[in-house]
Amino acid sequence: MSAAPLLSHDLRKVYQSRGAPATTALAGVSLEVHTGERVALLGRNGAGKTTFLRIASTLLRPTSGTIEIFGHDADREPDLARPLIAVVPQEGKPFFHLTPYEQVYTYLRARGFAREVAKARTAEALEKMGLTDIHMCSV
Ligand SMILES: Nc1ncnc2c1ncn2[C@@H]1O[C@H](COP(=O)(O)OP(=O)(O)OP(=O)(O)O)[C@@H](O)[C@H]1O
Ligand SMILES: [Mg+2]
Repeated sequence: MSAAPLLSHDLRKVYQSRGAPATTALAGVSLEVHTGERVALLGRNGAGKTTFLRIASTLLRPTSGTIEIFGHDADREPDLARPLIAVVPQEGKPFFHLTPYEQVYTYLRARGFAREVAKARTAEALEKMGLTDIHMCSV
């Protein structure tokens, strides 16, 4: 059986800032997401949703516990886990001086797609979104 897309076990994160009281953002989260499942993480502001996703996507280290992406530990094997997970944050941060084509192409190249593959996927994505003819951003 292949490894689960996401498997967390007793994941804890305590933010410790100098001069401020410690904040427990995650107090032991265990979660398994199976292939084909869609899972919504719901919680009030400050519940720890972003913290969980930042740890899952290797941007932040947990205080304890584990989280695996397709069997690769996000903390101990970040280079193997990172290409297998994608996160679209709630706040978009596009590079405003790039055209839509350059924007998508740049992200695909940064994620390791070969030039020709990135070109084809960019064209396909722009076509789907009806942005093929937009060459310049207005900002
Ligand atoms: N870098 C940090 N340093 C200290 N505390 C932090 C840091 N980032 C988040 N926190 C605290 O950790 C807790 C969880 O925050 P987090 O941003 O993960 O919650 P969230 O569920 O994504 O909230 P929101 O719904 O507002 O996006 C909150 O109490 C927050 O104030
Ligand atoms: Mg958040």
